[in-house]
Order: sequence, then C-alpha cells, then structure tokens
Amino acid sequence: MKAYRADLLDFTATPAWGDAAADEAVRFREDHWLLVDDTGHIAGVQAEPPAPGIEQEDWRGHLLLPGFIDTHVHSPQIGVMASYGTALLDWLNNYTFPAERAWADPEVAARGSAHFLDALLAHGTTAAVVFPTVHKGSADALFAAAAGRGMRVIAGKVLMDRHAPDGLRDDVMQAERDCVDLIQRWHGQGRNSYAVTVRFAPTSTEAQLAMAGALCRADPTLYTQTHVAENRDEVRWVGELFPEARSYLDVYARAGLLHRRSILAHGIWLDDNDRAALRETGAQVAFCPSSNLFLGSGLFDWASMLAAGAAVSMASDVGGGTSLSMQRTLADAYKVQALVGSATGQRLTAWTALHAATRGAAEALDLGHEIGSLEPGRLADFTVWRWSANSVDTERQRLARDLHEKVFAWMTLADERHLRGTWVAGRRRYDARDITAWPPADRERRAA
Ligand code: GUN
Ligand code: ZN
Repeated sequence: MKAYRADLLDFTATPAWGDAAADEAVRFREDHWLLVDDTGHIAGVQAEPPAPGIEQEDWRGHLLLPGFIDTHVHSPQIGVMASYGTALLDWLNNYTFPAERAWADPEVAARGSAHFLDALLAHGTTAAVVFPTVHKGSADALFAAAAGRGMRVIAGKVLMDRHAPDGLRDDVMQAERDCVDLIQRWHGQGRNSYAVTVRFAPTSTEAQLAMAGALCRADPTLYTQTHVAENRDEVRWVGELFPEARSYLDVYARAGLLHRRSILAHGIWLDDNDRAALRETGAQVAFCPSSNLFLGSGLFDWASMLAAGAAVSMASDVGGGTSLSMQRTLADAYKVQALVGSATGQRLTAWTALHAATRGAAEALDLGHEIGSLEPGRLADFTVWRWSANSVDTERQRLARDLHEKVFAWMTLADERHLRGTWVAGRRRYDARDITAWPPADRERRAA
C-alpha cells in the first residue's frame, strides 16, 4: 500500500451543462490521501494520515486528477504537427500520408510508438484511442509499447484501400487477415483493446467497409474508430462517392459501423438525423477543438449533441491538433463553444470539460469500471499537477474566488509544464524531475 497526499479532484456523475456552481457531480477533496494497493488499484481516499508503516508521498498544495483520456490521436503524426498552410484534404496529401509511409519500417514504428506513448504520459494522458498507420506492424508496435507501459490503449491497423498513395493502401482480403490476426493477439491482452479502424469513408471501398462491419458484428467487444464530417470539402466528396447514403454518417451506419463502441472524430457537419443515430446506437463523437481550429475545419456544436442525447469526449487529434496537452485542448474547446454559443447562452464549464476528459470518456468507452475516476477498485491511473507554475498564473490563482474559478483558470492557463508526475496502475511512469526521461530515445539508448 502507498498513500499520496494532494488536492484530489474527480467526478461522481455527469455535471449539469453550464452549471459552474459546485455541482453534486464534482468531488473536490482538498488535502486528502489517495491510497493505492500493491496490485495498482485505488484502495480508498481519506482525510486522515495513513496508518504507520504505509509509504507516503507528500504532494501537498498540488492537484491530483485521474489520468486524462484522449479519445482520438494519431501515433505517427507527432512530426506532422504544426504543418503550415492547408485544410484537411491537402494536409493529408502534403504532410500526413508521406509521414505515415515511413512507418512501414518496423524500426520506425517501434521507436515512434515508444516516443508517442512517453509523450502522452509526459502530458498527463494515461489512456488513448489511437490511429497508427495502414501497416500491420504499426499496430503491433503500438500495442507492444502500451503493454510495456501498462497503459490502456484502444487501437487498430488503419484500413484504407483507395484514394491513398502507393505504400499506404491495403486490400480487403489482406486487411481482413491482418485484423483477425491482430485481434487474436492483442484484443483483451492486458489493457489493450482492438478497434476496427476505418480511416474515413473516402479511403475505403464499399467492400472494405462491409468487411469492417462484419468484424464488428462478429465480436461486439471490438471498438470502431473513424473520422466523420470534419471538413466541408470532405463531406461533399463523400456525397459523390456514396450517392445512395443519406449522409456521411449514414455511410458508416449502413456498413454496421455505428454501435456502442464506436468513436467518431470531429462530427462538425452532422444534422439532427445523424445526432439521433448517434444517440440510438450509443456511438460517441470525439471533439477535437485544437485540430478543428488549426485546419480551419469548423466549429463543433457541443450543446446540440447534448440536446440530442449523444455522447461527446475530448481529443487532441495530433497531428491535426497542435498539442497533446488536454488542458490546451479543453481551453480550445471553451473558446470554440464561446463562438458557437448555446441556446441557453451558457459557456463550457471546467466541470463539463474535465469530466469529458476523464470519467465521461471512460464511461463512453465502457471503461468506467477501470479508469476515469478515483473510486476504490479503479486502476490507479493518476496525475499530479502544480496549481500554478509562473508569476502570472500564480497571481490568477490567488485571485480566484471559488472552486470553479480556480479550476477553470487552471484548465485555461496550465499545460504539460505544470505536470509533476504520471502514474499508471500505481506505477510512476513520468517524473518531471527526471531530466533524463526526456527525450525518451536517449533513455532507451542508455538502457540498451
Ligand atoms: N481524416 C482522415 N484522416 C485524417 C487524419 O489523419 N487527421 C484528421 N484530422 N482527419 C482525417
Ligand atoms: Zn484524426
């Protein structure tokens, strides 16, 4: 058993939209102790110091949160971040596809996957839903690296059998064999789960979409991940490629790819029928505000998703997104919702944002029993943060008059530089003091 002393924040339920008052769903336990047992599970939380003999770590004056969950991010795209000058379709052709081709090399995929996961940990993200590349080895490398770190990862080999350059296309038969083999070897192994990963409708034939849907029907424990309705030119193109579908989302519905474990990135240009389909199937949208702003894709309307009863989680979408930091992602989400405006005139609260990046995402992924909160029995995936790290945010924190103001200012002003440590299943996997921990390539070279 080990005990960690800090200001503990998590959620017991979904906070009401627009309600900044300390909601019943918000659980803030100032200067408490988090107890973690020897199996890496949370044993409890208490105000009084732990019994003698229990090892202690004193993070007094720091914020302790459940590890962040990034529900849409691309492992091979760290080097694509901050690529200048294009919207989605040109960005894919000019920057992203060339970068992904390099991952045909298993060495590149192994090194890149290790770097990617260590970078997530160094931003306070302990669980992620990830796109590697079309290459089977890129999924193997990612799952192996996740297993080595004990991280919760949902991923799958990317399916794309058309409208992609040489070296980045598969075909239906080979892709199916690769998926079946990866599912057998990785799905449910440790904390890895397999996601049938259709890149997006334009890069899969009808036959490939049907194959993907059949895989999901055969095993309802599989996830599905894809992109939908991100960019208006993309939506128009999908309309031309699939004239019989009612909408972009309907392409996936017809293929059997909308279900309780589907994660659809973006969903900016959906209509009421689409949102109803999301609610009926239990599929969720991963809101990627940083990416949507950077690529000029559009403004996602969260309140309309809420009104329709469809689930929303939070995602960096690196490399379309410009940071792996979930705080920066949430700060961008606030700004996007401020521009969209909701029918009620209410803004995105820190509670709704942080819930969506922790417990909300966990529940939407059917993983609420494992991650997303500080409940006893959950795996101890958690992070410890400075409340402030410089004179400016220290002053802002000093002036905060209530808990929401304090946490909202933190969410808006903090980033990975505030992170002190990241624990996965009770084991410390990132330590900000350990300057040798970064870059990871150096550490691996030394360890070798
Ligand atoms: N649509 C299809 N592929 C991608 C991708 O890699 N990133 C984003 N943002 N959108 C996509
Ligand atoms: Zn994406």
